[in-house]
Amino acid sequence: MSDNIVGKFHGRDWLTIQEWSQEDLQTLIDAAIKIKKLQKERNPHDYLLRQTLFMIFFNRSLRTRNSFEAGMTQMGGHAHFLSPQDVYRPALPDDEEAYTSERISDVARVLARMGDAIAIRIYGSHAKWIYGRGHRILREFAKWSDIPIINMEDDVYHPCQAMADMQAIQEHTPKVQGKKFVMSWAYSPSTKKPLAVPQSGVLMGTKWGMDVVLAHPKGFELDPKILEMCEKNVAQYGGSFEITNDIEEAFAGAHFVYPKCWTSKHHIPPIAPAEDWEGCQKLFDANKNWIADAAKMDLGVKDVKYMHCLPADRGFEVTDEVLDGKWSIAFDEAENRLHSQKAIMAAIMGRP
Ligand code: CP
Repeated sequence: MSDNIVGKFHGRDWLTIQEWSQEDLQTLIDAAIKIKKLQKERNPHDYLLRQTLFMIFFNRSLRTRNSFEAGMTQMGGHAHFLSPQDVYRPALPDDEEAYTSERISDVARVLARMGDAIAIRIYGSHAKWIYGRGHRILREFAKWSDIPIINMEDDVYHPCQAMADMQAIQEHTPKVQGKKFVMSWAYSPSTKKPLAVPQSGVLMGTKWGMDVVLAHPKGFELDPKILEMCEKNVAQYGGSFEITNDIEEAFAGAHFVYPKCWTSKHHIPPIAPAEDWEGCQKLFDANKNWIADAAKMDLGVKDVKYMHCLPADRGFEVTDEVLDGKWSIAFDEAENRLHSQKAIMAAIMGRP
């Protein structure tokens, strides 16, 4: 019964999937599938009655905000939307401004006395485009808060997206081990996209023992620490992990492809001495052919699936024919944000 999930991991933070075992993550996915059924049948599941989730959004959102907010309502609780400019902006000690900001140690302890979990989204300019600073802010919240911290996407990880994605994969292919999962870079006119989704995607695929291929043009390498974690996952859970600079080679024989734009970390600090968006744009413009179109999808297995976290840049990352066509499970992934996050919240916020 789904009710067994309530409080199963009471008090744990949800910051990355890497610090959770495959077994515990699968427990959450199984619960999410049951919760999805309860929701579709409109069966009550008040797992978090009168509980409060604080959501701090430094960046905009459609899916994340609405799935958390609807999820809390459906489980009998409430989610507060907190916009940093309308509260005092939570700040690290090196970034304080009198009266317009408030130190994270204080924000975290105050909210922890009033509610049941704090969820945060922060990347890009809000993390000063210093790779890793957004994640550091979440860790700072976790250090001071004695209620769970939930990562709603930072500049390194998007663990909620990874769980919704794995749920969608399992709904289409119950046995995922041995299936080829391709996380691929794709072109977008916007260079300012975080690395969180591709990094969480390759961690997810390797965590479940899939045959994971990371494809990108030269210059779009992921964080070496993430690549090391992928190798560690392969050693522990089986499967394989390869990197290629050839999109066609990557798509050949694939079961799942996830073509998605991300920025080049070589053009932002700490690797670059300062943000270099002009140089980054040149690198992007040299790779406009990295688009998911029907010809590339046809290189996959017969029922290859197209995945995307959304929002997708239509006509650049992907053609309409692919996103709206027989291959696409992008809208299942979006829907599953609701169900998988309800399972995570029930598990870490619920009382056993
Ligand atoms: N996939 C995702 O996180 O969507 P939003 O940016 O709309 O929340």
